[in-house]
Amino acid sequence: MLVAGIDSSTQSCKVVVRDAASGELVREGRAPHPDGTEVHPDRWWEALSAALEQAGGLSDVEAVSVAGQQHGMVCLDADGEVVRPALLWNDTRSAEAAADLVDEIGAQAWADAVGTVPVASITVTKLRWLASHEPDHAARVAAVCLPHDWLTWKLSGSPSLDDLVTDRSDASGTGYFDARSGDYRRDLLRAAFGRDDVVLPRVLGPAESIPGPGCLLGAGAGDNAGAALGLGADDDVVVSLGTSGVVSARGDRQAADPTGTIAGFADATGAFLPLVVTLNAARVLAAAEHLLGVDHAALSGLALSAPPGSAGLTLVPYLEGERTPNLPHATGAIHGLTLATSTPAHLARAAIEGMLCGQRGGIAALESAGVRVTGVRLVGGAARSEAVRQIAPTVFGVPVTVPEPGEYVADGAARQAAWALTGSLPEWTAGGASTVYSGPETEGLWERYTEATHKHLDHVE
Ligand code: XUL
Repeated sequence: MLVAGIDSSTQSCKVVVRDAASGELVREGRAPHPDGTEVHPDRWWEALSAALEQAGGLSDVEAVSVAGQQHGMVCLDADGEVVRPALLWNDTRSAEAAADLVDEIGAQAWADAVGTVPVASITVTKLRWLASHEPDHAARVAAVCLPHDWLTWKLSGSPSLDDLVTDRSDASGTGYFDARSGDYRRDLLRAAFGRDDVVLPRVLGPAESIPGPGCLLGAGAGDNAGAALGLGADDDVVVSLGTSGVVSARGDRQAADPTGTIAGFADATGAFLPLVVTLNAARVLAAAEHLLGVDHAALSGLALSAPPGSAGLTLVPYLEGERTPNLPHATGAIHGLTLATSTPAHLARAAIEGMLCGQRGGIAALESAGVRVTGVRLVGGAARSEAVRQIAPTVFGVPVTVPEPGEYVADGAARQAAWALTGSLPEWTAGGASTVYSGPETEGLWERYTEATHKHLDHVE
């Protein structure tokens, strides 16, 4: 019996077809998404259709689950038409709406109600933005859902908004769902959007499914929960370096951090997945490659030829503003430039160290919330860089395990589909063989990084 897992991520759509019993990878496909932080959902459907075709279609597949980028606001009208292009998680235009919502309701009250203090990424802030900037669009909205919900609905072929479904992990990132009780907080939706007479997707349990054309459709998941399920990450701390940088650790209780550093999301197994998300991760390396006119491999080689700590050269990585800390309008900076550090090698290493220090901030936040951090699993596109692998333990101060590169989000969705199909969570995971990297923590690097970010922000603010 075959199952399929889909990852509709920010940059592309990936499909894996696996054997439900053994987990063996049978076929796969992928197709790109357009750039930008505002995308019409039809583009995701086109990419999904192309990726599915490349993966041999679904005619012999018994169950499918869709995981995807979190938080994107997909608004549908009463006929099921998309009201306007979706605003994605990394679109920061709702930063002011987020600040207003925190002022109006209070950070502690948000954290207590939904586990998360809203920042521009969170769906509820995008709805506030829509209500105040595009009232005509807002008035047409009959249903609100997330990217993975919309794709599951499209796969179901149903024209009815009442057939929209989601799962706890992705619902927990909307800002109007309480993952502890499993209930929507329509009062918060009303406070943000001015009304709550809209259809919200029914929240399926981790192994629940709905009938699709010729196969079961699983609940799906947000991409971070999908990756944790694919890796079988259990109690490990995972650092994922994709378009976003995400530090997460599974837990039994929902986080409720009034500082907003930790987002108290749910996972895809019925537990919780507190996480810390930065906007600046893999693309910091892309920016450094661009600056230096080199490719991935050359950046890695250059970085490894510079001394640990880049002889004091520090890169503040807020190249797209930042989400954690919540600095939507911040910029990046380079500190400590001297004649000696004005070399491509120092800059390459400083970019990698700066990006990793951003993640270390997330690790420190989880630690202060009681998570024991004895090692880190490193995944995501930027974890393919040898320099990132070798430098990570020197920044994090703990050993770093790097599983073989893989499509962990799509694999998590496939694992969920197998769970829905067979009734039990499969023993197989997609973690594969791993390599462990270790090395002494670079003395003074973290302190210098925090000092540089503070100095820079004093200057920016
Ligand atoms: C999580 C988040 C990102 C997106 C990226 O809160 O915003 O990780 O899910 O795909």
